[in-house]
Amino acid sequence: MSVLAIYGGEKTCATVWPTWPIWDDRERDGLMAVLESGKWWYGEQVKAFEAAYAAFQGARFGVTASSGTTALEASLLALGIGAGDEVIVPPYSFVATASAVLRVNAIPIFADIQPHTLCIDPDDVARKITPRTRAILPVHLAGYVADMDRLNEIARAHTLFVVEDACHSWGSQWKGKGTGALGACGVFSFQASKNITSAEGGIMLTDDEELAEQCRSFTNVGRRKGGAWYQHFLLGSNLRMTEFQAALLLAQLSRLEAHTLKRQANAEILNDGLRDIPGIITIENDPRMTRRGYHLFCFRLDLNLLGVTRERFLEALTAEGVPCMPGYSTPLYKMPLFQRAYQGADGCPVTCPYYAGDPVAYTQVNCPVCEQVCQDTCWLFHTVLLAGEDDMRGIVAAVRKVVEHIQDLR
Ligand SMILES: Cc1ncc(COP(=O)(O)O)c(C=O)c1O
Repeated sequence: MSVLAIYGGEKTCATVWPTWPIWDDRERDGLMAVLESGKWWYGEQVKAFEAAYAAFQGARFGVTASSGTTALEASLLALGIGAGDEVIVPPYSFVATASAVLRVNAIPIFADIQPHTLCIDPDDVARKITPRTRAILPVHLAGYVADMDRLNEIARAHTLFVVEDACHSWGSQWKGKGTGALGACGVFSFQASKNITSAEGGIMLTDDEELAEQCRSFTNVGRRKGGAWYQHFLLGSNLRMTEFQAALLLAQLSRLEAHTLKRQANAEILNDGLRDIPGIITIENDPRMTRRGYHLFCFRLDLNLLGVTRERFLEALTAEGVPCMPGYSTPLYKMPLFQRAYQGADGCPVTCPYYAGDPVAYTQVNCPVCEQVCQDTCWLFHTVLLAGEDDMRGIVAAVRKVVEHIQDLR
């Protein structure tokens, strides 16, 4: 009988896992060309990347920004969302999904997620709608596309905007159309950990030209097309991307399709291998999601069956040579930001005089599925999915070994 690596046994995976970012002469040439041109500021490279990335996702317009966070804020501002408004968000996400709403002086209202997709639950969204709701902000978590059919249907029935937080979903498609313009608009991040990166950066995509122009204005100090240089029409900020970032992103984009297909094929090997292991709950892809750009490969643990904590399980799996992590472990509403806001410590917008609802009691919010998922979900980073097929089989073997020896971990 084998011994777990955590107790000195032989580790299952000897793989040297791919590191990130991946780059070659394409990035070097692009950066050098910008450097030598002397044109470093918000010009042709930015324009070319906006057009190329919008086309890649199948959207008409792209407006770059300094980050995914600021692109979310600019999108909400461009839609006219602000004081007195509520925006429905999932609590299983990066803080920016909800903080962007607060930053425009609106109120984030949390709706639970689905256990089988880890994305926002349309039924709970429907329950959370009030006369003050202006938008739904789903996250395509780990590249899994939230149920856009149901969300758009709910939005239509209540005249709401759908703003996609697509910051994990480069390359994902719903019924053949890319994420980002499945609702009113969508936002992507190009921060260092992301599947296509310029260290920092973001973009908002939309099919609505007027909305794109409005968003551009918020990212470009309130300037407007046709306006004079020192003419500022609205309260924008400087959220512009540089030519260096855009040149990097154009080079990165040239690899995105091949990387997306490879990650998807490897994720299938993982899901096929993990599906029948007792105590492992796989996340199965919705057939309407015609392509999935994996930012993360997620699976859940049946903690009752296994009888150990996720942290103990991950410790053993790491020792077997699998780079794995717990991911989001706290629902956003439990972050000090929200818990303190409820006590009125931060004033507006939670105690905003324009807000007609009762102050939101974030200390009382409970999304039971999210709470459970925060305890039992395991993540593999997207670079793992760029290794070989045998390495995927190695991961499956490592998980199987840990499960078969689970009594040794109790
Ligand atoms: C789901 C989600 N939304 C928004 C963001 C914000 O993107 P950025 O880091 O580019 O500001 C991130 C970044 O990690 C994210 O994961």
